[in-house]
Amino acid sequence: MTAKLNVVPFVSVDRMMTLVHHIGIERFLMDLADRLEDDFRRWESFDKTPRVASHSLEGVIELMPTSDGNHYGFKYVNGHPGNTRDGLQTVTAFGLLADVATGYPILLSEMTILTALRTAAMSAVAAKYLAPRGASCMALIGNGAQSEFQAMAFKALLGIRELRLFDIDPAATRKCAANLARHGFRTTICKSSMEAVEGAQIITTVTADKQYATILSDNMVGAGVHINAVGGDCPGKTEVQREVLLRSDIFVEYPPQTRIEGDIQQLPADHPVNELWRVIAGIEPGRRDGRQITLFDSVGFAIEDFSALCYVHERILETGNFDELDLIADPDDPRDLFGMLMRSPAAVAA
Ligand SMILES: NC(=O)c1ccc[n+]([C@@H]2O[C@H](COP(=O)([O-])OP(=O)(O)OC[C@H]3O[C@@H](n4cnc5c(N)ncnc54)[C@H](O)[C@@H]3O)[C@@H](O)[C@H]2O)c1
Repeated sequence: MTAKLNVVPFVSVDRMMTLVHHIGIERFLMDLADRLEDDFRRWESFDKTPRVASHSLEGVIELMPTSDGNHYGFKYVNGHPGNTRDGLQTVTAFGLLADVATGYPILLSEMTILTALRTAAMSAVAAKYLAPRGASCMALIGNGAQSEFQAMAFKALLGIRELRLFDIDPAATRKCAANLARHGFRTTICKSSMEAVEGAQIITTVTADKQYATILSDNMVGAGVHINAVGGDCPGKTEVQREVLLRSDIFVEYPPQTRIEGDIQQLPADHPVNELWRVIAGIEPGRRDGRQITLFDSVGFAIEDFSALCYVHERILETGNFDELDLIADPDDPRDLFGMLMRSPAAVAA
């Protein structure tokens, strides 16, 4: 199916949920992971810039643009850790994909659900290269909106079946355990982060707090563990104690952005980090030995949203699972925009 140039395919929340269920959530996560790896392998063909962030006391609103020369994409996303107190989500998002040759948009999509899927798929891709071989148990600290997506991606890509859950809000943990109950996990509800990391080969931190928090302290991290640090993604918002960072081999998406936003904001600007794309492209090694502590300092980068938008675009054109949005004015004579406005039924009616 193709769409007219002036009518932009729109994927609403409802359409996104239909698409995910049509494909199947684990298949969707695996497909997205493949797409992310393909795009990370051609990292050098993308325009890259740290995202444009507008900070306030309550949170942050960000724009995340990139282009590969054929398509241009951007995401609007917010992060407001206090929102859940008022019944609102911490993270919401939408995004757009455009054709570089004409500049016309070709997709407008909800990205609140898509961001959770792409973040989880990205975490699992990183863990594929960095986690200890045969890892079966993951601590999941922070049991909010992102948490189940992380669990599902680690199951789909790494076969993780055992989860140790902790959140400072027991209601969040109960929700997470209940949501995952039908998906083939053995879950243990823990009373502290310390208890959650016991016996886990992978530690995922996905908490939300607009402050320097210490979710993982030095005494909690033993040799050989992989840390998937997702919630430290803004200036002044971190999860991992500095001493843990100093003992870890750190892997990042785009260093100029991560040095501002990631847990490594606690380290000097020249502290060595590894770029994940180089590992995925086979230029540099991921995990080297069983005692190494690896840490993916995830902040979320525009190329990941681009990959997700391209994937969704392909799949909706195959399935027709979109609405048509009258977004682009379409005068018969492209230079007669004014004439189109003045001849419109609204002008006649007024
Ligand atoms: N890296 C990325 O690409 C990316 C993408 C999306 C979201 N995020 C970040 O992930 C985090 C989680 O997002 P969400 O949508 O799940 O938020 P959320 O508000 O739905 O859930 C966060 C959970 O963390 C818990 N929490 C807060 N402090 C804690 C602590 N000290 N110990 C244990 N639990 C604690 C809260 O009780 C809450 O249940 C946010 O910080 C968000 O900015 C990162």
